[in-house]
Amino acid sequence: MRAILPVHATAVYVGLGSNQGDRRANLERALERLAQVPGVDVLAASSFHESELVGDGPPQGAFLNGAVALRTTLPAAALLAVLKQLEVQAGRVLPAQPNHPRPLDLDLLFYGDRWIDTAALVVPHPRWHEREFVRRPLAELGLDLETLPRWQRPRVAREVGELWSVTAGWLAGGCTIGLVPTMGSLHEGHASLLRRARAECDRVVATVFVNPLQFGPGEDFAAYPRDLGGDLAVCAAAGVDLLFAPDVAQMYGDAFASHVAVGREAEGMEGALRPGHFAGVATVVARLFAMARPHRAYFGEKDAQQLAVIRRMTLDLGFPLEVVPCPIVREADGLAMSSRNVYLGDDDRRASAVLHRAMQSAAERFRRGLRDRDALLARVRAVLATEPRAAVDYVELRREGDLAELPPGDVDGGRLLVAARFSDGARPVRLLDNLSLVDRVGNQAHD
Ligand code: PAJ
Repeated sequence: MRAILPVHATAVYVGLGSNQGDRRANLERALERLAQVPGVDVLAASSFHESELVGDGPPQGAFLNGAVALRTTLPAAALLAVLKQLEVQAGRVLPAQPNHPRPLDLDLLFYGDRWIDTAALVVPHPRWHEREFVRRPLAELGLDLETLPRWQRPRVAREVGELWSVTAGWLAGGCTIGLVPTMGSLHEGHASLLRRARAECDRVVATVFVNPLQFGPGEDFAAYPRDLGGDLAVCAAAGVDLLFAPDVAQMYGDAFASHVAVGREAEGMEGALRPGHFAGVATVVARLFAMARPHRAYFGEKDAQQLAVIRRMTLDLGFPLEVVPCPIVREADGLAMSSRNVYLGDDDRRASAVLHRAMQSAAERFRRGLRDRDALLARVRAVLATEPRAAVDYVELRREGDLAELPPGDVDGGRLLVAARFSDGARPVRLLDNLSLVDRVGNQAHD
């Protein structure tokens, strides 16, 4: 006889699946074993239904799925351990490879009305509502799918306190956090950072904040493109967990007074043309690091000088995180993607491909043996000069990483950096681009 559980037992729903061996026998045996676990009371099981694999995986047979309603006095973590043990008893090898065939899959769907978001367990199950093979058995068990709780992903936080408390919960739950700071108007370049963070971290925070501290007087702070709806869609597609989109008052209260001073990395190039810009970038990034407390933060090589400034700041201020550089994402004609590209007129848009072409031409000469710094720079300038629409601000060849100046004479690598203005569109646009003479595996190549 089964012991009767006390009334404070928690109502739990578990999803069942099998697509290996005798599927029905696997599911029935799991239900029998579950009923024998002390502290677990099986109330009802749905019938079993066929379903095909959702997502990409090796070729495999159809699943048989169902769900079971329980009551339990076990804490959620202990129940999860029981479910994993039953999977192993059924012949599953753990840790399981995603989307591979399996004799038994037990998913903790709901644990009372608890919201749990740790590295080991997320409840309610984050994707229950997207899966017909979960919805159908839950409906059969009498649940009203419309009123069942579901996570909003990405969750949108407008306030610092909310960002702080969500990330605090994740840290307490053993999650690694990846941070992708942006100013929004997200494009494929940003999306590549988000996807990389998604692949490498348990939780991903994207931030969208057009940071007034990094815009000079007369720059385009007010006109900077803003599109939070579009940003949300990009974040959702990339699997972002939290989108932090504060207003200026949230980020910088009235009494805000402490700014990060930056040094050598911020001199020359953008630093010379935009006084105060990198101090503004470093200040907002430091603040975001302090608030989100990420393990890794992702930045594009597109803004190579910014990356060098942030690396220095991270080391100097002692933030315990890894700055992850990500390669430049380009349009088909080589133009580096940028939120400001939308302001290019048609002719300027066509002309803008010259930046990449010019650097590629020098990289090609480097591959063929040209080593002299100034000859390589002259090659970039010569190609840029073929495009009268481009007003060149600078062309530089700097040391890889910290972008220190290279002395005249022969170089054994380095990064070309260019900036140019185009003025015929809706508003004048400055475009930045850069290219490494030596790719990551040490070949003499380029992005
Ligand atoms: P933003 O220009 O929105 O860029 C956000 C991040 O996306 C930066 O790390 C940038 O280098 C990266 N990125 C932009 N275009 C890219 C492309 N085509 N390929 C790869 N990465 C690309 O940079 C900023 O915002 C701000 O200065 C910020 C760091 C958020 C501080 O306010």
